Amino acid sequence: MQAKVLVTREIPKPAIDILKKMCEVKVNELRRSLTKEELVGEVKDIDGLLPLSTDVVDSEIMDAAPELKVISNHAVGYDNIDVEVATKKGIMVTNTPGVLTDTTADLTFSLIMAVARRVVEADRFTREGKYKEWSPTLMLGKDVHHSILGIIGFGRIGRAVARRAAGFNMKILYYDEKRASEDIERKIGAEFVPFEHLLERADFVSLHTPLLSETRHIISEKELRMMKKTAYLINAARGPLVDEKALVKALCAEWIAGAGLDVYENEPELTPGLVELDNCVLLPHIGSASIETRNKMAITAAKNLVAGLKGEVPPNLVNREILEKVKR
Ligand code: DGY
Repeated sequence: MQAKVLVTREIPKPAIDILKKMCEVKVNELRRSLTKEELVGEVKDIDGLLPLSTDVVDSEIMDAAPELKVISNHAVGYDNIDVEVATKKGIMVTNTPGVLTDTTADLTFSLIMAVARRVVEADRFTREGKYKEWSPTLMLGKDVHHSILGIIGFGRIGRAVARRAAGFNMKILYYDEKRASEDIERKIGAEFVPFEHLLERADFVSLHTPLLSETRHIISEKELRMMKKTAYLINAARGPLVDEKALVKALCAEWIAGAGLDVYENEPELTPGLVELDNCVLLPHIGSASIETRNKMAITAAKNLVAGLKGEVPPNLVNREILEKVKR
């Protein structure tokens, strides 16, 4: 009998074709996410689940899916999945690292450029017919080139952002739980500094850490007050890394110069006050949203799912400790 798979939202056809070769595939075609109740109803007899980062896959979902063997997240981040519960239940969890690194780094850099050079604000100004004459003081922003970039989280995406920054002659500081090797630091031209030093020195503080209990609100009132008044906060990682209420306060009171956000604490809701502010650029979680990358993410997720269902070790297995369990 074919394995049953649920894909929680329409994804590119090549990925569905991979799944269809060995599975009976059900795709949510509602053009909206499934509610928790709907998801519970849909998972009853499935062997594999391909959710998005916006689907919360917790114990309630896993309890409702006694046959579930693989959860193949269509994202590199997997904070939407209770991996601990999955591991206890012997369910493999996979993600899509690598394929979206450069695309997300490009978007991060767009946020830096957009907020520093007031690109979105200037576009609005022009469309509203307010551009009457050139002026030496019109829409002055901050230079990105030769400024200081502080990267928090020096993994794949953080490093890719650093490589772009090198092209802009930026000084690159980074902080990570785990320091990179001297070789990597030298090649990228990045300097490891303590977290507080980074906040105090950087012109742009860019977040690239996964969302974990230790990183939730890694930027809150205390950290925002430590940043330079002329500095910008950039977040294209996960919303809850930032205490958004504190950020609104900081932007209103001009403790910092601005923010570029692609993700939000209670996505897709925005903390009141945020939309009224001109000193921030707000995007709808499009870090990995290029045609090529979304194709690759879907295909990677499909391949991971198929491998797991075949009893192979999926290329991007997150909970590797599960292999020990299977061996025993
Ligand atoms: C990811 O892959 O984690 C992106 O944020 C898309 O959800």
